[in-house]
Amino acid sequence: MDSKKQTAHGQTQEKSNSDKPSTKNKSQEKSTKVGETTRTDSKAKTGSNSGRQQKARFHEKNEGKLKEFFIEEIKDIYFAEHEALKALTKMEDAATSAALKESISQHYAETEEQIKRLEEVFALLGEKPAKKKCEGILGIIKDGESVLEDTDSETMVRDVAIIIANQKVEHYEITSYGSLAELARTLGLEDVAELLDLTLDEEKKTDVTLTTLAVESVNEEATKE
Ligand SMILES: [Fe+2]
Repeated sequence: MDSKKQTAHGQTQEKSNSDKPSTKNKSQEKSTKVGETTRTDSKAKTGSNSGRQQKARFHEKNEGKLKEFFIEEIKDIYFAEHEALKALTKMEDAATSAALKESISQHYAETEEQIKRLEEVFALLGEKPAKKKCEGILGIIKDGESVLEDTDSETMVRDVAIIIANQKVEHYEITSYGSLAELARTLGLEDVAELLDLTLDEEKKTDVTLTTLAVESVNEEATKE
């Protein structure tokens, strides 16, 4: 059934080209040449090749738009990581328990590496690293920093609040990296996807570490204040 369809398509194109030679553009000429070469084997192949070329052109055009969007999103997360880095410094200073301070300090070092990893992503994309201001992450961070005004220093209640604030940032990042890694695969950018996956795993582990800290000590200790 397919071969009938393809043969019919090939014949239609031949007729169309001979009826309207003046409208033939360069890509059509190229398409016909490819068709002529393969026609020695089978007319059916002509239609198939032409269809593939049209599909490829359609895909290329749309992939271009998708790739543009993807790069904008990479700039967004690049901005977010820089803002998260500034916020982590404030949160580490404000934390009371040694375990929370240590956890934030570790994630600070990790975030510096994540920024470098995003710079590798930019390089793979042939782009210069650039930030795109993201009101979303700025809102989450601003909201998180407000807990420092709402809680007393050197209390476990403040540590509870800091953990929640940090987890809100982590969840923003997990969503971003998870979606972008899959989008990179759709675009055939496997190297980029692997880099984004590395960061995604780190963000997930940080989230789990913070939950463990809350459940195993900080939340309970805060009830005693
Ligand atoms: Fe991060």
